[in-house]
Amino acid sequence: MTRSAFAVLAILSLLSAGAEPVCAEMTDHHGFTVELHASVEDCVVCHDGSIAKNVVYCLNDCSIMTPHAVKHRYPPPGREAAYRPVASLQEAGIELVDGMVACVSCHNLTNQSPYHLAVGIAASGLCLTCHIQ
Ligand code: HEC
Ligand code: HEC
Ligand code: HEC
Repeated sequence: MTRSAFAVLAILSLLSAGAEPVCAEMTDHHGFTVELHASVEDCVVCHDGSIAKNVVYCLNDCSIMTPHAVKHRYPPPGREAAYRPVASLQEAGIELVDGMVACVSCHNLTNQSPYHLAVGIAASGLCLTCHIQ
């Protein structure tokens, strides 16, 4: 093998080795390195009271009496009229995970505002980014 062919191969193998970690976008979070686009499970690993504050959330039969729903499709099928279009969420900086509400829909860990809220500094603005009323 010529020297330049070897160099090309070496670069190609470096590129392919580097290809995977590029997908995960990490951020500094209270002394830990955490994935920005994390799933609910990824957040709850720490937020179950073990390493960080226990967080309550609702998976089924969610209502105004329960903590907020996560892992529910956005907008909920059949109730689209009560929710803003997905495109307007994205413009506002709200992220869905696989089309569903997740912790990162309401929290953007790169925002240093109280509670790292994804939108605004008060919860009501955040709520009305998705809910029409
Ligand atoms: C490696 C552990 C770890 C992971 C994973 C993690 N956190 Fe945290 N988080 C912490 C610690 C530690 C704090 C500091 C306060 C505490 O003990 O709860 C914190 C604090 C917070 C706070 C409160 C900030 C404030 O202003 O009071 C929010 C909101 C939060 N995390 C959201 C999230 C979300 C959303 C995810 C998933 C994307 C996540 N965290 C993943 C460890 C973690
Ligand atoms: C519908 C929006 C929404 C979702 C979904 C959501 N949060 Fe929150 N979270 C908030 C708001 C708003 C606050 C600010 C305090 C409050 O109003 O209770 C908050 C507060 C927190 C706090 C601080 C609690 C404290 O007592 O200091 C942590 C930690 C947190 N959330 C983590 C999470 C994690 C982890 C998930 C996913 C399991 C999650 N949140 C899902 C809106 C949300
Ligand atoms: C990312 C978009 C989003 C945000 C932000 C959001 N919600 Fe929701 N909310 C939803 C979805 C989706 C459901 C689940 C609807 C379903 O599956 O039936 C829901 C359900 C609810 C419910 C249960 C009753 C119902 O209408 O189904 C209440 C109450 C509620 N949200 C209040 C809030 C409040 C208060 C805030 C702000 C702290 C908030 N939401 C922020 C998307 C959001």
